[in-house]
Order: sequence, then structure tokens, then C-alpha cells
Amino acid sequence: MGAQRLDKIIASTGRWSRREVKGLIRQGRVLVDGLPPRSPEEKADPEQAEITVDGEALAYRRYTWVMLNKPAGYLSATEDGRGATVLDLLPQELQRRGLFPVGRLDKDTEGLLLLTNEGGLAHDLLSPRHHVDKVYRARTAGRLTEVDCRAFAEGMTLEDGTVCQSAGLEILSAGEESEALVTLREGKFHQVKRMLAQRGKPVVYLERLRMGNLTLDGALERGQFRFLTEEELEALRNF
Ligand code: URA
Repeated sequence: MGAQRLDKIIASTGRWSRREVKGLIRQGRVLVDGLPPRSPEEKADPEQAEITVDGEALAYRRYTWVMLNKPAGYLSATEDGRGATVLDLLPQELQRRGLFPVGRLDKDTEGLLLLTNEGGLAHDLLSPRHHVDKVYRARTAGRLTEVDCRAFAEGMTLEDGTVCQSAGLEILSAGEESEALVTLREGKFHQVKRMLAQRGKPVVYLERLRMGNLTLDGALERGQFRFLTEEELEALRNF
């Protein structure tokens, strides 16, 4: 990994902003191998040096993982000439870390979106071989029935020939508009919308609630994010 600026290393834990880190260093609350650094720009190797804040060893994170409650209107991309991306919802400091969305939600889909700069684990989570369940709450125009649930369970072939594996459909309410939880083990383009459209019940609203063992944090308002906790990261690594 090599030496990096101390303020960057400490801020990468997500507990303090770079500005707060500068304050911690100035106040003498940070020690590197037992000695106070001369400045926030001083370099250290986070995997070799013992860095403490108020006497507590730093839980250094090589990679950043963020849970975002995505609002409608943002593209799941890192750059797009045509409009705002989910990266625009993060502060500059995080944008500079090279984060990218783990999979895609449509522009009008809301809810749980992970962002990271850890390519390997992100790739594994998305790989069809790993069968990470994704749970969505869908509202449809039209009444969902048990026949739709059976069609989802059996898997279906879409009009363009795309084969969708068995998926879960749990009806929460059925009426002129219906609400259901949809569980997918794969992530084909517009999959929830296309499967429900094929049943003649087009999606009018879609939100992702869960990905593997990670549930959208109910305390996050739309557009807000937080860092994953150590426990959540551990669970992701052992999915
Ligand atoms: N399926 C969709 O149709 N849209 C999404 O954003 C995610 C899953």
C-alpha cells in the first residue's frame, strides 16, 4: 500500500472529516508509533505504523463502502454527460476516492445502493454465481394474484427471449394498484419492471430494500448515505 498522508488515512475510517482530522492532530490527540506527527500532511504507512486517536488504535480501512438511500432522478453511474449521478450525492472528499455503484438501479428506482472502491468484492457480489438475493418493494398498476406468484416462482422468458430464473413474489396488498416484495437472484436489465410488465402489471414505483444480508437503513433519508459498519462489511465478505 505504501505511505499516505496522515489526514487521508484517518479520514478514510469515515469517523471524522479531513477538517476534523486536522483539528485532532493539532490538539495532539493523534500519535504515530507513539509520537505526535508534525503536520496532517506527514506520511505514514497505514499497514505498518501504529496510529492511535485518543489512545485508541485506528481501525484503518483500505477500502470505502457506503450505503446510499438513492432518490429518484439520479443515474447509477460515475459520470454522465446527461444528468446527475449518484456520485453527486456524496461529498467531494468521497468523490475523490474513486467510488462506483455496486450494480445499477434505474434512474427512477429508489432505495439501497452500495458504493465502493473495492472492485474484487463488488464484482463477487454481482456475480450470478454467488446468488446474492436482492429484495425490492414494487407498486404495480393492476391486481397481483397468486397466478403471478406462481409465474415468478417458475421463472419466465421475456418477449425478447431473455430467460429469467425463478424469483420471489410476495403480495403485500392487491387492488387496482398492488404492492409486493420481489426477490431476485440475478440482475438483468430492468428485470423487475420487465417481469411485472410481462404479467400485465406495470411497475409504477420501485425501491430496493435489501441486498444479500444488508438491509436499507431506515434512519437514512432519501439522498443520505452512511459508511458500512465493521459488522456489515464482515457479513458482506462472508455472504
Ligand atoms: N429491476 C428494475 O426493473 N429496475 C431496477 O432499478 C432494479 C431492478
